[in-house]
Amino acid sequence: MRTIATIVGARPQFIKCAPVSQEIRKSFREILIHTGQHYDRNMSQSFFDELRIPEPDYNLGIGSGNHGLQTGLMLTEIEKVLLATQPDLVVVYGDTNSTMAGALAAAKLHIPVAHVEAGLRSFNRKMPEEINRIVTDTVSDYLFVPTPTGVAHLTAEGITGGVHLVGDVMYDSFLFNLKHSDTETVLRNFDLRSKEFILATIHRPQNTDDPDLLSKLIRTFESLSELILLPIHPRTRNLMRKFGITPQSQNLRLVDPVSYREMIALEKNAKIIITDSGGVQKESYFAGVPCIVLRGETEWVELVEHGWAILLGDRFEELPQAITSFGNYRPGSENLYGDGHASRKIAEILGF
Ligand code: UD1
Ligand code: UDP
Repeated sequence: MRTIATIVGARPQFIKCAPVSQEIRKSFREILIHTGQHYDRNMSQSFFDELRIPEPDYNLGIGSGNHGLQTGLMLTEIEKVLLATQPDLVVVYGDTNSTMAGALAAAKLHIPVAHVEAGLRSFNRKMPEEINRIVTDTVSDYLFVPTPTGVAHLTAEGITGGVHLVGDVMYDSFLFNLKHSDTETVLRNFDLRSKEFILATIHRPQNTDDPDLLSKLIRTFESLSELILLPIHPRTRNLMRKFGITPQSQNLRLVDPVSYREMIALEKNAKIIITDSGGVQKESYFAGVPCIVLRGETEWVELVEHGWAILLGDRFEELPQAITSFGNYRPGSENLYGDGHASRKIAEILGF
């Protein structure tokens, strides 16, 4: 039996690998490597428990740090595991430092690399994720692309071999877990009523790292007339603490990061979603809820093209107007991210 090493490290990667690992394990031996990029219980272990992802065979415990340090430590430690285990293939997900380190370590050892969520581009090289995407795609042998736009980006860069348009594995996860998500209980636990609250998430450095901008964003949230639930990413929580930003309004409710099934129940019942997250943008569409994106550009361009999302950038002062004018918008239901069977297709292609 051939061996696949799966490398994950950050929250969205646990959600992406859950359905793929399940399919992979039908035909391959899987070694699961967790870099330890995310380590708080509610950013890591709780996803393994809830989504029944097998315990990692290796947890490298890398933790947080500047890009060079974090990526360098990952490279060193991943290489040791790959040398010891000699897998036939390495699978990486998305666009984090764990993704790029995993792909580079494998490529240097001449181990074939499969990149799930290949081909995405924001064309903003100030985003660390954009560098990670370009490097990872360049060294990958299998490029599993969620959207036709992603295929076009790869073609434009001269990458045509090993490219497979399979749809989005996050859609697989969403469909499966929504069935297991107890919406009533989630709403009761958070004391919320369906369609009477806004769900928000913030964690991109361009929104969190400048004290004035972060403070302006939190003040804008506080000034809105709607109730906002903000499950707070540890990056944002730590920086708010560092900058001395303490929300006062009853209308802005900060809570610890929630579990995935809680999150998708909240998304489904939100009136509108405000986010700078890549995954949450798409899930807004899966949930049929309009999304205001606090970024100047997005890799998920089809959401904007089809009217599911608008890009507000850091023009936070326009939020009240955007909520009023966009909040009631109900676009059509195009099938933008595949048919919910991306994971099975990936395992089948790897099996040939
Ligand atoms: C990382 C990814 C980003 C992804 C996001 C998903 C990179 C460069 N960035 O961003 O693409 O969208 O994960 O959530 O790979 N921290 C904790 N506990 C944790 C994890 C992080 O307190 O369990 C805090 C630390 O202060 C850390 C900061 O969050 O310095 C940032 O963590 P890091 O993993 O470096 O980047 P993210 O912002 O989480
Ligand atoms: N998510 C979650 N709990 C939270 C916030 C987000 O389970 O409190 C999930 C969300 O549903 C999505 C994923 O985490 O599936 C997105 O991860 P994140 O926003 O951290 O990263 P990005 O997608 O921007 O890389």
